[in-house]
Amino acid sequence: MSKKSSGLKLITKFERARKLFPHTKNRIYFNSASYGPFSKPLADAVNRNLQLRLNAVRDDSHDSFADLEFLRKGYASLLGVKKNEIGIGLNTTFGLNIAAFGLPFKKGDEILLSDTEFPALAYTWKAAAEKRGLKIKRIKSVNRCFDINNFKKAITKKSRVLALSYVQFFDGYKNDLEEISKICRNHDLFFVVDGIQGMGVEPLNLKKINVDIFSSGCQKWMLSPQGCGFFYLPEKIQKLIEPPFMSWLGTDWKTEFTDLFKYDKPYFDSAQKFEMGYYAVLNILAMKESFLIIKDLGIKNIQKHNYRLIDILADYIKSSNHYKITSRMDKKHRSSIFTFTSEKLPELHRYILKNGITLVRREGSIRVSIHLFNNENDIRKIIKVLKRFARS
Ligand SMILES: Cc1ncc(COP(=O)(O)O)c(C=O)c1O
Repeated sequence: MSKKSSGLKLITKFERARKLFPHTKNRIYFNSASYGPFSKPLADAVNRNLQLRLNAVRDDSHDSFADLEFLRKGYASLLGVKKNEIGIGLNTTFGLNIAAFGLPFKKGDEILLSDTEFPALAYTWKAAAEKRGLKIKRIKSVNRCFDINNFKKAITKKSRVLALSYVQFFDGYKNDLEEISKICRNHDLFFVVDGIQGMGVEPLNLKKINVDIFSSGCQKWMLSPQGCGFFYLPEKIQKLIEPPFMSWLGTDWKTEFTDLFKYDKPYFDSAQKFEMGYYAVLNILAMKESFLIIKDLGIKNIQKHNYRLIDILADYIKSSNHYKITSRMDKKHRSSIFTFTSEKLPELHRYILKNGITLVRREGSIRVSIHLFNNENDIRKIIKVLKRFARS
């Protein structure tokens, strides 16, 4: 197939995927970095379960175990890792807590964090530092981006871990995990990654990159409800972690719940051991539908699609005297978050919202998050709105 016709086929596939998202008929949504919109298949799956329960048709409590296995396997395939290294959590913070409270540290050990982190990492490690007698050291960013040289300079004999976002929440700066992981390895540091702003839009192969714990909520680019997430714990790390919490479903009942007076069952020999109690079944059903859409399109294609649309918007911003790009556009550090600023930021933000476009203002910029359901018309529309605002 020629390059041109395979490109057209892909655009058709994305247009078909767009139709799965009812909001696209009425609104332009550029806010997946906050939370993703729901698709029709997601709503249908959740509704089917609601009906089942509303009518109490049968005991459906076992159904979700197959879906959980499907998701562990599915998320593992997105990251190029093994199914037994994936656990289902509740959000990003869930996996970060396993790291902060479960990794083997001693009093006085240093935790390295960026000074431009989302609060999820900052507060989890703050609590762990207070409880475990650890010291937090913030690495000075340069132009508000994580800086490798400053990271290297910050490492001392007491440094034990670097915890870092894959993609920065406010400007979309993507960290080079491969390069950073090598430095961590050379200095014997654990490498903990908050993956939420890249998961679903930035291809990642953790088989090739030494990440010790990766945690992601699924409420943003993974297009699932709030309260959904998963974590990756490689086999070697599973053995090192002192679990900060345990649950009866961390042992294998083989979905046989008729004989529960068994208190000496071994815990799972997998990341599943770190999951906690019964699952939010409605969320699991939702996660499955969203996973299927993302898997079908492929993360590499989604990335390409998103960058193509961002480039159209970026070209306009570059050509305008009224706006200035504030996110990185180079291949290594760009992502599906694009930001720009204006001298009249709050007014501009209100104007965009009033014109039927959903997006947010973050840390001095307008943040545009582009995802698989967006298309060129969405971009043309925001450019029109920006032109009108500039003239006003
Ligand atoms: C980088 C980053 N980490 C974490 C979160 C959210 O954490 P959680 O999924 O635990 O609510 C966000 C946004 O809400 C984020 O941008």
